[in-house]
Amino acid sequence: MRGIEQIPLLYDAVMAVTDRIGLWKLRAWLTRGASGRALEVGCGTGRNLPRYPRSARVMGIDPSLDSLRRAHRRAPAVPLVCASAEALPFRATSFDTVAISLVLCSVPDPGAALAEVRRVLRDPGAVRLLEHVRSERRWEARWQDFIQPAWTRITGGCHPNRDTEAAVRRAGFQIDERRVNRNLRRLVARKTE
Ligand SMILES: C[S@@+](CC[C@H](N)C(=O)[O-])C[C@H]1O[C@@H](n2cnc3c(N)ncnc32)[C@H](O)[C@@H]1O
Repeated sequence: MRGIEQIPLLYDAVMAVTDRIGLWKLRAWLTRGASGRALEVGCGTGRNLPRYPRSARVMGIDPSLDSLRRAHRRAPAVPLVCASAEALPFRATSFDTVAISLVLCSVPDPGAALAEVRRVLRDPGAVRLLEHVRSERRWEARWQDFIQPAWTRITGGCHPNRDTEAAVRRAGFQIDERRVNRNLRRLVARKTE
């Protein structure tokens, strides 16, 4: 399915607006907590990549080659791999930090993606997530359900109505840090025993 997320120029144009009206602060939160070997899952056009601290040796994966080409122009020193979150091409416990922003709404199988994140994460490593989620207000969640088919088609995969926080817990993570901003969540999660 080809939509805004698969058209880098268009995606960046939309994101330039959302970043300017405040998303950049949340992106800054996501990246500044990364350390050690870090993986950004679904890095897209690489909007976060130049922001990681020097203490983090970051690499990115995304299934969209066009987006990765743009990410490479934005952050030429960052290694990039064309891959899906559901099948990460890395050995178990390879990373100290996994960062995910606005991705679990778009992956075809969030459960499988989170299982892979858990596999590649070292203990005690952290997953840092910035995701929009299903609304806790019933009328708004219904609205998200109503617009989801058209929204998913236009955006190229995004589901506005996913309960991503519950999916993170189900996948064997405990949430150590949680900030709520309407339907946006900033989460830091670690593997449960
Ligand atoms: C809304 S964009 C977010 C991009 C970037 N993380 C950001 O914050 O700007 C969603 C991204 O998820 C990626 N994506 C979709 N399916 C995926 C999958 N199965 N595994 C990894 N990434 C995926 C898309 O290619 C796209 O780059």
